[in-house]
Amino acid sequence: MANGVGHSRDVAVIIPAAGMGSRMGGVPKQFRTLGKHTLLRRSVGCFTGLKEVMQVVVVVPEGHLSDTEADLKSVDFDGLVLTVGGATRQESVRKGLEVVSSAARVVLVHDAARPFASTDKIREVVAAVRDYEAASLAIPVADTLRKVSGTNFAETVSREGIYRMQTPQGFRPALLVEAHREAAEAGWKTTDDVDLVMRQGHAVCLINGHPANFKITTPDDWELAEMIVQDATASRGPDG
Ligand code: CTP
Ligand code: MG
Repeated sequence: MANGVGHSRDVAVIIPAAGMGSRMGGVPKQFRTLGKHTLLRRSVGCFTGLKEVMQVVVVVPEGHLSDTEADLKSVDFDGLVLTVGGATRQESVRKGLEVVSSAARVVLVHDAARPFASTDKIREVVAAVRDYEAASLAIPVADTLRKVSGTNFAETVSREGIYRMQTPQGFRPALLVEAHREAAEAGWKTTDDVDLVMRQGHAVCLINGHPANFKITTPDDWELAEMIVQDATASRGPDG
């Protein structure tokens, strides 16, 4: 059931938000204000209204527990947990996993830097995890891909079958815990959880993502996000 009907409140969400935002520069992007709310509060808010979500674990940098708690105080949700992350996204997700409720039957991992995840897409991922154990949003690359040499273009790269990964990525909790345990033991380094689970030989189900669910990485992305937020406010009126 795409809308979660027939399932109890059994979804936990880990939001890695312990990065430094070095490509953005300045204050870590997740703590900056986009329109009326911080980026982090927006990303958290993508999940807290879903009745199947029991817990949202926000993983913050060392020294940011109390300011994050203050920022998220007005979120009307009883399953919010804050914890401290690590030096890499992978380590932050692993730290988040340590506090995921043992009652969770699905765990989602979603970048704090993606404030525009839709309810429909989140629910598609949850449904696919129930059926296939692991799933992720991704979108096919549409542009021509080409390497660059200095300031000139070099060889063209085939985009055939190439997808851009998004989040949320979703898993059966035991699968993700085991994948992170083994990765830590073997010293595997990666930028997403699908990779770790696949290294364990598990298939991961592809769910078509949406371009609006982009990751804010650079100042250009921030500008785009501001345009989206302003447009949404304008169309809802001043109180929207
Ligand atoms: N993240 C994390 N812990 C880290 C590094 C990253 O929880 N040690 C989180 C970020 O806060 C972000 C998500 O992982 O929500 C995706 O990472 P990215 O967009 O790369 O953010 P940053 O690592 O903060 O940015 P940059 O790589 O430009 O420094
Ligand atoms: Mg990073």
